[in-house]
Amino acid sequence: WHWGGCSDNIDFGRLFGREFVDSGEKGRDLRFLMNLHNNEAGRTTVFSEMRQECKCHGMSGSCTVRTCWMRLPTLRAVGDVLRDRFDGASRVLYGNRGNNPHKPPSPHDLVYFEKSPNFCTYSGRLGTAGTAGRSCNSSSPALDGCELLCCGRGHRTRTQRVTERCNCTFHWCCHVSCRNCTHTRVLHECL
Ligand SMILES: *[C@@H]1O[C@H](CO)[C@@H](O)[C@H](O)[C@H]1NC(C)=O
Ligand SMILES: *[C@@H]1O[C@H](CO)[C@@H](O)[C@H](O)[C@H]1NC(C)=O
Ligand SMILES: *[C@@H]1O[C@H](CO)[C@@H](O)[C@H](O)[C@H]1NC(C)=O
Repeated sequence: WHWGGCSDNIDFGRLFGREFVDSGEKGRDLRFLMNLHNNEAGRTTVFSEMRQECKCHGMSGSCTVRTCWMRLPTLRAVGDVLRDRFDGASRVLYGNRGNNPHKPPSPHDLVYFEKSPNFCTYSGRLGTAGTAGRSCNSSSPALDGCELLCCGRGHRTRTQRVTERCNCTFHWCCHVSCRNCTHTRVLHECL
Protein backbone atom coordinates (compact mmCIF):
# COMPACT_ATOMS: atom_id res chain seq x y z
CA TRP A 1 0.00 0.00 0.00
CA HIS A 2 1.10 3.59 -0.31
CA TRP A 3 0.27 6.96 1.16
CA GLY A 4 -1.99 8.99 -1.03
CA GLY A 5 -4.85 11.38 -1.15
CA CYS A 6 -4.85 14.15 1.36
CA SER A 7 -4.39 13.43 5.04
CA ASP A 8 -6.26 15.93 7.16
CA ASN A 9 -3.85 18.73 7.93
CA ILE A 10 -3.78 18.36 11.68
CA ASP A 11 -0.60 20.41 12.09
CA PHE A 12 -2.21 23.42 10.53
CA GLY A 13 -5.40 22.88 12.50
CA ARG A 14 -3.46 22.66 15.71
CA LEU A 15 -1.52 25.85 15.03
CA PHE A 16 -4.62 27.69 13.93
CA GLY A 17 -6.57 26.46 16.94
CA ARG A 18 -3.81 27.60 19.25
CA GLU A 19 -3.86 31.11 17.78
CA PHE A 20 -7.62 31.29 17.53
CA VAL A 21 -8.61 29.91 20.91
CA ASP A 22 -5.65 30.61 23.18
CA SER A 23 -5.40 34.26 22.15
CA GLY A 24 -8.80 34.80 23.77
CA GLU A 25 -7.37 33.90 27.18
CA LYS A 26 -6.39 36.94 29.20
CA GLY A 27 -4.61 37.42 32.47
CA ARG A 28 -1.75 35.63 34.13
CA ASP A 29 -3.55 33.82 36.90
CA LEU A 30 -4.42 30.22 37.67
CA ARG A 31 -7.56 30.38 35.53
CA PHE A 32 -5.47 31.51 32.58
CA LEU A 33 -3.03 28.63 33.03
CA MET A 34 -5.87 26.15 33.51
CA ASN A 35 -7.60 27.27 30.31
CA LEU A 36 -4.40 27.08 28.29
CA HIS A 37 -3.74 23.60 29.65
CA ASN A 38 -7.26 22.36 28.90
CA ASN A 39 -7.27 23.91 25.43
CA GLU A 40 -4.05 22.09 24.64
CA ALA A 41 -5.40 18.85 26.15
CA GLY A 42 -8.35 19.11 23.77
CA ARG A 43 -6.13 19.60 20.75
CA THR A 44 -3.89 16.73 21.88
CA THR A 45 -6.98 14.51 22.05
CA VAL A 46 -7.98 15.37 18.50
CA PHE A 47 -4.40 14.60 17.44
CA SER A 48 -4.16 11.26 19.25
CA GLU A 49 -7.54 10.09 17.95
CA MET A 50 -6.46 10.50 14.32
CA ARG A 51 -7.15 7.28 12.44
CA GLN A 52 -5.73 5.71 9.34
CA GLU A 53 -8.29 5.20 6.64
CA CYS A 54 -7.67 3.09 3.56
CA LYS A 55 -9.27 2.37 0.25
CA CYS A 56 -8.65 -0.73 -1.84
CA HIS A 57 -7.97 -0.67 -5.55
CA GLY A 58 -7.50 -3.39 -8.11
CA MET A 59 -9.72 -5.99 -9.73
CA SER A 60 -13.08 -5.92 -7.96
CA GLY A 61 -11.60 -4.57 -4.77
CA SER A 62 -8.88 -7.24 -4.59
CA CYS A 63 -6.72 -4.79 -2.71
CA THR A 64 -3.58 -5.25 -4.80
CA VAL A 65 -3.07 -1.56 -4.20
CA ARG A 66 -4.23 0.20 -1.11
CA THR A 67 -4.21 3.95 -0.57
CA CYS A 68 -4.17 5.21 2.98
CA TRP A 69 -4.44 8.58 4.62
CA MET A 70 -4.91 10.00 8.10
CA ARG A 71 -8.29 11.28 9.03
CA LEU A 72 -9.63 13.47 11.84
CA PRO A 73 -11.74 11.69 14.46
CA THR A 74 -15.44 12.48 14.54
CA LEU A 75 -16.63 15.10 16.99
CA ARG A 76 -18.44 12.28 18.83
CA ALA A 77 -15.20 10.31 19.28
CA VAL A 78 -13.39 13.38 20.63
CA GLY A 79 -16.33 14.17 22.88
CA ASP A 80 -16.42 10.67 24.35
CA VAL A 81 -12.71 10.75 25.20
CA LEU A 82 -12.95 14.23 26.71
CA ARG A 83 -16.01 13.23 28.69
CA ASP A 84 -13.98 10.42 30.30
CA ARG A 85 -11.17 12.85 31.04
CA PHE A 86 -13.72 15.24 32.53
CA ASP A 87 -14.77 12.55 35.00
CA GLY A 88 -11.14 12.02 35.99
CA ALA A 89 -10.09 15.67 35.99
CA SER A 90 -7.43 16.71 38.49
CA ARG A 91 -7.74 19.63 40.83
CA VAL A 92 -4.72 21.92 40.67
CA LEU A 93 -3.61 24.27 43.39
CA TYR A 94 -1.01 26.96 43.76
CA GLY A 95 1.84 25.39 45.60
CA ASN A 96 5.55 25.02 45.96
CA ARG A 97 7.06 22.77 43.40
CA GLY A 98 8.65 19.69 44.96
CA ASN A 99 6.15 19.77 47.80
CA ASN A 100 3.35 18.17 45.80
CA PRO A 101 1.97 14.85 47.06
CA HIS A 102 0.00 14.22 43.82
CA LYS A 103 1.47 13.37 40.50
CA PRO A 104 1.22 16.33 38.16
CA PRO A 105 -1.43 16.13 35.41
CA SER A 106 -0.24 14.85 32.07
CA PRO A 107 -0.77 16.91 28.90
CA HIS A 108 -3.85 14.74 28.22
CA ASP A 109 -5.54 15.38 31.57
CA LEU A 110 -8.14 18.05 32.14
CA VAL A 111 -7.62 20.23 35.19
CA TYR A 112 -9.73 22.52 37.37
CA PHE A 113 -9.04 24.60 40.45
CA GLU A 114 -12.45 25.56 41.81
CA LYS A 115 -14.53 22.97 43.61
CA SER A 116 -17.67 22.01 41.77
CA PRO A 117 -20.93 23.45 43.07
CA ASN A 118 -23.26 21.03 44.82
CA PHE A 119 -25.84 20.16 42.19
CA CYS A 120 -28.11 18.57 44.82
CA THR A 121 -29.88 21.70 45.90
CA TYR A 122 -31.35 24.67 44.13
CA SER A 123 -29.16 27.73 43.99
CA GLY A 124 -30.20 30.81 42.08
CA ARG A 125 -26.75 32.31 42.55
CA LEU A 126 -24.94 29.32 41.01
CA GLY A 127 -27.73 28.56 38.55
CA THR A 128 -28.23 24.96 39.71
CA ALA A 129 -31.74 23.53 39.64
CA GLY A 130 -31.27 20.88 42.33
CA THR A 131 -32.56 17.33 42.02
CA ALA A 132 -35.87 17.57 43.89
CA GLY A 133 -38.63 16.14 41.71
CA ARG A 134 -36.24 14.33 39.39
CA SER A 135 -37.33 10.82 38.49
CA CYS A 136 -34.82 8.21 39.58
CA ASN A 137 -34.26 4.48 39.28
CA SER A 138 -34.66 2.75 42.61
CA SER A 139 -32.62 -0.31 41.60
CA SER A 140 -29.68 1.45 40.01
CA PRO A 141 -26.47 1.97 41.97
CA ALA A 142 -25.30 4.49 39.35
CA LEU A 143 -25.86 8.23 39.01
CA ASP A 144 -29.48 7.74 37.92
CA GLY A 145 -30.22 5.73 41.06
CA CYS A 146 -32.36 7.27 43.77
CA GLU A 147 -29.59 7.01 46.35
CA LEU A 148 -27.12 9.23 44.50
CA LEU A 149 -29.48 11.38 42.47
CA CYS A 150 -31.58 12.35 45.48
CA CYS A 151 -28.42 13.08 47.52
CA GLY A 152 -29.63 10.96 50.43
CA ARG A 153 -32.88 12.93 50.87
CA GLY A 154 -34.96 9.90 49.90
CA HIS A 155 -37.65 9.57 47.29
CA ARG A 156 -41.40 9.19 46.96
CA THR A 157 -43.01 6.42 44.97
CA ARG A 158 -46.23 6.73 43.06
CA THR A 159 -48.02 4.59 40.56
CA GLN A 160 -49.41 5.75 37.30
CA ARG A 161 -51.96 3.98 35.14
CA VAL A 162 -50.98 3.96 31.51
CA THR A 163 -53.03 2.69 28.59
CA GLU A 164 -51.18 1.49 25.55
CA ARG A 165 -52.16 -0.22 22.36
CA CYS A 166 -51.20 -3.86 22.43
CA ASN A 167 -51.77 -7.16 20.67
CA CYS A 168 -51.93 -5.44 17.33
CA THR A 169 -52.89 -7.62 14.40
CA PHE A 170 -52.76 -6.88 10.73
CA HIS A 171 -55.87 -7.56 8.69
CA TRP A 172 -55.74 -8.12 4.94
CA CYS A 173 -56.12 -5.61 3.48
CA CYS A 174 -55.21 -3.10 4.97
CA HIS A 175 -55.78 -2.18 8.53
CA VAL A 176 -54.38 -2.88 11.96
CA SER A 177 -56.52 -3.47 15.00
CA CYS A 178 -55.27 -3.30 18.52
CA ARG A 179 -56.44 -3.99 22.03
CA ASN A 180 -56.04 -1.48 24.80
CA CYS A 181 -53.87 -2.70 27.62
CA THR A 182 -53.80 -0.86 30.90
CA HIS A 183 -51.01 -1.45 33.32
CA THR A 184 -49.58 0.41 36.23
CA ARG A 185 -46.14 1.90 36.15
CA VAL A 186 -44.18 2.65 39.30
CA LEU A 187 -42.43 6.00 39.36
CA HIS A 188 -39.82 7.23 41.82
CA GLU A 189 -39.15 10.90 42.40
CA CYS A 190 -36.59 12.60 44.54
CA LEU A 191 -37.84 14.53 47.58
C1 LIG B 1 -32.88 0.74 36.52
O1 LIG B 1 -31.64 0.23 36.89
C2 LIG B 1 -31.47 -1.15 36.66
C3 LIG B 1 -30.11 -1.56 37.24
O2 LIG B 1 -29.10 -0.71 36.78
C4 LIG B 1 -31.62 -1.45 35.18
O3 LIG B 1 -31.49 -2.84 34.95
C5 LIG B 1 -32.98 -0.96 34.69
O4 LIG B 1 -33.11 -1.13 33.30
C6 LIG B 1 -33.18 0.51 35.05
N1 LIG B 1 -34.55 0.90 34.73
C7 LIG B 1 -34.84 1.98 34.00
C8 LIG B 1 -36.29 2.29 33.80
O5 LIG B 1 -33.97 2.71 33.53
C1 LIG C 1 -53.13 -10.91 23.40
O1 LIG C 1 -53.26 -11.99 22.51
C2 LIG C 1 -52.99 -13.27 23.08
C3 LIG C 1 -53.07 -14.32 21.99
O2 LIG C 1 -54.08 -14.04 21.06
C4 LIG C 1 -54.01 -13.53 24.21
O3 LIG C 1 -53.72 -14.78 24.83
C5 LIG C 1 -53.90 -12.39 25.25
O4 LIG C 1 -54.87 -12.57 26.24
C6 LIG C 1 -54.09 -11.06 24.57
N1 LIG C 1 -53.87 -10.00 25.56
C7 LIG C 1 -54.72 -9.01 25.71
C8 LIG C 1 -54.39 -8.03 26.78
O5 LIG C 1 -55.74 -8.90 25.06
C1 LIG D 1 -58.85 1.92 22.89
O1 LIG D 1 -58.86 3.26 23.41
C2 LIG D 1 -59.20 4.24 22.45
C3 LIG D 1 -59.03 5.61 23.07
O2 LIG D 1 -59.31 5.58 24.46
C4 LIG D 1 -60.63 4.00 21.94
O3 LIG D 1 -60.95 4.97 20.97
C5 LIG D 1 -60.69 2.61 21.31
O4 LIG D 1 -62.00 2.31 20.93
C6 LIG D 1 -60.20 1.54 22.30
N1 LIG D 1 -60.08 0.24 21.61
C7 LIG D 1 -60.58 -0.88 22.11
C8 LIG D 1 -60.38 -2.11 21.26
O5 LIG D 1 -61.16 -0.94 23.19
